[in-house]
Amino acid sequence: MKPLVNRWALVTGASRGIGQQVAQALAEEGCRLILHSRTLDATAPLADRLRSQGTHVHTVAAELSDSAAVLRLAAEVSALCGGTLDILYNNAALMTPYHADWLSVVPADYELSFRVNTIAPILLSNHFLPAMLAQGWGRIVNVTSGIKDQPELMAYAASKAALDKFVRDTAPKLAGTGVTMNLLDPGWLRTDLGGPNAPGAVESVLPGALVPVLATDGVSGRWVSAQDFAGV
Ligand SMILES: NC(=O)c1ccc[n+]([C@@H]2O[C@H](COP(=O)([O-])OP(=O)(O)OC[C@H]3O[C@@H](n4cnc5c(N)ncnc54)[C@H](OP(=O)(O)O)[C@@H]3O)[C@@H](O)[C@H]2O)c1
Repeated sequence: MKPLVNRWALVTGASRGIGQQVAQALAEEGCRLILHSRTLDATAPLADRLRSQGTHVHTVAAELSDSAAVLRLAAEVSALCGGTLDILYNNAALMTPYHADWLSVVPADYELSFRVNTIAPILLSNHFLPAMLAQGWGRIVNVTSGIKDQPELMAYAASKAALDKFVRDTAPKLAGTGVTMNLLDPGWLRTDLGGPNAPGAVESVLPGALVPVLATDGVSGRWVSAQDFAGV
C-alpha cells in the first residue's frame, strides 16, 4: 500500500506552476488535498480534475502577506482535516521586481517578500507542528530557491535565505519525533514566477518534490534539489 494514502496535505500556491504539480502528485499517492491560493476560483479547475480522479479535495483562499489571514487559514485547515494536518507543503511565494540598479534598496519589496515567502510559511509550520508532534508523524516541506549572485533580486533571495535558516535551526527540535521539516529547491523552471526563459519544464519538479515527503529516515533540515531526481 502507498504510504501516504488518506494523509491530509495542504499545498499553498496550488493554483498553478510547481504547487499544481505537487498537488497532483500527492493526490496520486492517495492524499486528501487542501488546495490554497488567493482565490477559490484559481484552484477550482484543479480541484474539479482531482475530484474526477477520486481525490477528496477542499479549497481555501488567503492572502499570505496578511498575517491575520494566514492564522485564519491555519485554523480553517485544522478544522477541515479534523485537527491534524499530516503534510504541509509551503510552496506559495512571490518574486519581487528585478532592480537593474542593484544598489537601490526598496523597503516595500523586502517587507512584502518576507511576509509571503518567510513569515507565512513559518506561521503555518508552527501552527501545525504541535498536532503533528502529538501524533508522531508529519512532513513539512518549505520551497526554497537556489538563486545566488543576483543582488537585483535580493528581496526575494534574502526571504528564501531566511526561510532556510528557519528550517535548519528547527531541525534539531524534530529529531526522533517522526516529524520532519525540509527544504525543496525546484530548480529554475518555466512558470509564471520562473519566466519563459527558464531551462526546465515545470513537470521536472517531479519526482524530486515528493522525496522529502516520502523519506522515512526521519532527517530534517535537508536541502533537496528536485533536479537531482528529474527523469529518474
Ligand atoms: N519557478 C522557478 O524557477 C522557481 C525557482 C526556485 C524556487 N521557486 C519557488 O517555487 C515555488 C512556486 O513557484 P512557481 O514558479 O510555481 O510560482 P507561480 O507559478 O508564480 O505560482 C505562485 C503560487 O503562489 C501563490 N501566491 C503568490 N503570491 C501569493 C500571495 N501573496 N498570497 C498567497 N498566495 C500567493 C499563487 O496563487 P494565486 O493563484 O493566488 O496567484 C500561485 O499559486 C515558490 O516558492 C518559488 O519561490 C520557483
